[in-house]
Parts: sequence; structure tokens; C-alpha cells
Amino acid sequence: MPKQYSRQEFLETTSLAAAGITLGTTALTSKSYGRIIGANDRINFAVAGVRSRGGSHISAIASCENAAVTHICDVDTRYAEKASLQVEELFGHVPASEKDIRKLLEVKDIDAITIATPEHWHAPMAIMALKAGKHVYVEKPPSHNPAEGELLVEAQQKYGKLVQMGNQQRSAAHMPEIMGKIREGVIGRAYFGKAWYSNDRDSIGIGKKVPVPEYLDWELWQGPAPRRPYKDNVHPYNWHWFWHWGTGETLNNGTHEVDLCLWALDVKLPLRVSASGGRYHFKDDWEFYDTLVTSFEYEDKMITWEGKSCNRKSYYGRGRGVTIHGTEGTLLMDGNGYEIYDNNDEKIFEYAKEVTDDTLDVRGGGQTTDRHFQNFIDAIRKGDRLNSPIAEGNISITMLQLSNIAWKVGRVLHLDPTNGHILKDRKAMKMWDREYEPGWELEV
Ligand SMILES: NC(=O)c1ccc[n+]([C@@H]2O[C@H](COP(=O)([O-])OP(=O)(O)OC[C@H]3O[C@@H](n4cnc5c(N)ncnc54)[C@H](O)[C@@H]3O)[C@@H](O)[C@H]2O)c1
Repeated sequence: MPKQYSRQEFLETTSLAAAGITLGTTALTSKSYGRIIGANDRINFAVAGVRSRGGSHISAIASCENAAVTHICDVDTRYAEKASLQVEELFGHVPASEKDIRKLLEVKDIDAITIATPEHWHAPMAIMALKAGKHVYVEKPPSHNPAEGELLVEAQQKYGKLVQMGNQQRSAAHMPEIMGKIREGVIGRAYFGKAWYSNDRDSIGIGKKVPVPEYLDWELWQGPAPRRPYKDNVHPYNWHWFWHWGTGETLNNGTHEVDLCLWALDVKLPLRVSASGGRYHFKDDWEFYDTLVTSFEYEDKMITWEGKSCNRKSYYGRGRGVTIHGTEGTLLMDGNGYEIYDNNDEKIFEYAKEVTDDTLDVRGGGQTTDRHFQNFIDAIRKGDRLNSPIAEGNISITMLQLSNIAWKVGRVLHLDPTNGHILKDRKAMKMWDREYEPGWELEV
């Protein structure tokens, strides 16, 4: 009979130092220390992109003390109106509302902006905000392609303001405990991480060119992306499945779990990436795969990612999750808890949160998002370490973007693990960046 450990026993042996190693490592630079907001000053936020995830940003900011949403920004008047009511209900004031983020960046009273727009806007908006002296909370993925990730990291370092990436599981209360136990050898030497996600998304059909609805500013929606005619199956949400604006399920949801694998295995960029799959379930405008398996290979470790967008079959009773395999056992985890198995596949420990958190659902907010925002605010106000500083978050993102490139070119990519650049494959490396609408090219 394997020994069953109590949580207390586990916690007593978890050294905070072990957990600490794995937490965010970007402290404020001396440059940003000079601009820390006073302990009693309210932190004013502008939230950009308020239909779905942006609404979670608003409620998370409301859960933090002495922070307020003073401005909202959306190019669709329907969602701006709804978010305005949400702010009024939560904060007791009507926020100023603006369609064009560039106008908001001129407002001195705004300390930080949060970004939950479609992904072709993430890095351009974040870089503009850094240049304007604002702190940034940017949803995952913070960039549309690897080159934008590099530029965003460069901009953060140049302008010295903070950038928190919106992979909120880095702030989940039980994660340091898990990572501490793995570092201490609870499953021996950890060498394999398996990440998965499943959903039952419907077809997006074949889009028709139709007049732009009066409630939408299509020009601003497109922003940095080269112009295309408006079609009726892109906005809202379905832009995720078009290369021009989105990054597919791998960045949409793989980000959460693959990032946990990196943390658990204590690795950064891999040596090789290969990805296979296809759009099997429906035939429609969807340009990415709906079924994908990716391998990220290291010298003596490996991570796999499996995304199923149109088939909800779960693994180990979880629609999304991670297993970390080692020489002496396996750890199974998700946003709601974790289990540890010995090498006879006997469960030796289980922890489940009493109140489950819907944070890792496709669109949800929840306690973990609240904690991630609190960490961002504590970093701005008190100089605390960010749990997901952009320089670290961008490593997971670059890997996942390379998975998309590997799938697109249909071969193994060999990488320079210091920067992720693809070796000896010009065609694949051409996909490292994108074209911009003239006048919208990124500059740091
Ligand atoms: N961290 C998480 O758990 C989590 C969960 C859900 C979504 N997300 C991320 O949040 C982002 C938004 O996702 P969503 O589901 O809310 O998308 P959505 O399409 O539902 O909403 C995007 C909103 O942005 C607005 N918008 C478009 N261009 C804009 C611009 N230039 N300025 C201001 N607003 C603009 C749209 O009108 C819309 O209201 C995505 O990157 C997604 O991956 C993260």
C-alpha cells in the first residue's frame, strides 16, 4: 500500500525557497522603481477590448483594493456600452469611453492599460502603451508572431514599465506548492510534460462579404493588419481561427498548459519542434488545425501539447490539464488542484480546491485572474516581482508560435535555443514575422 501524504505534511516539507526559484524573476529595474506609484494612490486602468475577456479584467480590477477602471476602449459600440454599465455597477462611476487607444494613451491619469483585443493588436498596442509610459497587462498571447514577441520584450526593457502576461495560472495559489514539490524530487527527476485541451467548438461556416455594421469601426479593428474586406464570420471571437489576426488553439489555450510544463521541467526554448494535425472535423473558413499534436524536444526532456478544438473527450477526467512524469512518479495538475502518483500508478496524494475556479475555461474570469491582477498591482505599487513578466512569458509564447510554423511547413524545426530562431530553414524563418498595413510598422 503506498503511503498517502496529508497536505499538511507536503506543505511542511515544501521549502519556500524551492518554490521561489520558480516564480517570476523580473524585479523592477532601478528605472521603474523611480516611478512607483505611492502606496495610497489609486491605480487607474484603461481596459481595451471589453466584450468577453475584457469583462473579466474589469471584475478582477474591482476585486483589488484602491484600483479603478477609469477608461474603457472598444471599437464596437455594443460592447463598450455594456462594459460601461459593468464599470458603473462595480465602481460607482461611468468610465470615459474611447474607440481609439492612441487617444487614451495621451491621458496622463491612466497608470496602466489592459489588453483583451484580438491578437494582431496585442504587441502593437502594448508597445505604444510602454512608449506612452503606461504599465501593461496583456492577454495571452501577447504577440501575433515571434518577431513581435522580441520587440515587446525589447520595448519593456527600453521603457522600463511593467508588462504582465495574462497567463493567470502563474498566480494560482497552489502552483508554487506544486513546483516546490517537483523541485524537491517528489516524482524523482522530472523529464516529460504532457499538456492537453479539448473543446467542442462549432463550425464557423463560410463567411460572406457584407457591409460593415454601423456599430463597428472596422478600420480600427484591423489596425496594424493589412486591410481585408469585412466578412460576417470573423468578429467577434472567430478571428482566433484566421492567421491574419489569430494564432489558433495552440496559443489560445495551449499557452496555459505548456507554460506550466516549462515551469515544472525548469526548461526554456527547446532544440526541436514538430507538429502534426489538421482541420478534420468541419470544412469551413477555419484556417488552423482543429486537432494537433506537438512535440518540443530538449537534450534529455520533452513536452507534448495536444489540442482538440472539436472533440470534448477529456483525459483523466479533465478537459484540460498537465501531467509531469519523472523517474519516480507522475504529477497530474490543473487550475483546480493536483494529484501525485508513484511509479506503480498508485495515487499517493490529492489536493482539490474547495471552491473551483473557472479561470481556465475558455473565457472565464475567477479567483486566479483576480490574484494575477493583484500581483500586477502589487508590482506597480510596491515593487513586488511579477508572476509572469513578459521576458519569461514570451519564451512559452515563442515555442507555441514555432509549433504553428512547424505545422504550416510540415517538418521538424531545428532551433537556436538561445533565441528560438529556426536554423537552416529559410522558408520557415520567413514566418517569424508578418506584414503590416503601411504606416503601422512596429518600432520600439
Ligand atoms: N487568460 C485567459 O484565460 C483568457 C480567456 C479568454 C480570452 N483570453 C484572451 O483575451 C483576448 C480577447 O479574447 P475574447 O474572447 O475576449 O475576444 P472577443 O473577440 O470576444 O473580444 C475582443 C474585443 O476587442 C474589441 N476590439 C477589437 N479591436 C479593438 C481595438 N483596436 N481597440 C479596442 N477594442 C478592440 C472587439 O470589439 C471585442 O469587443 C484574446 O487574446 C484571448 O486569447 C484570455
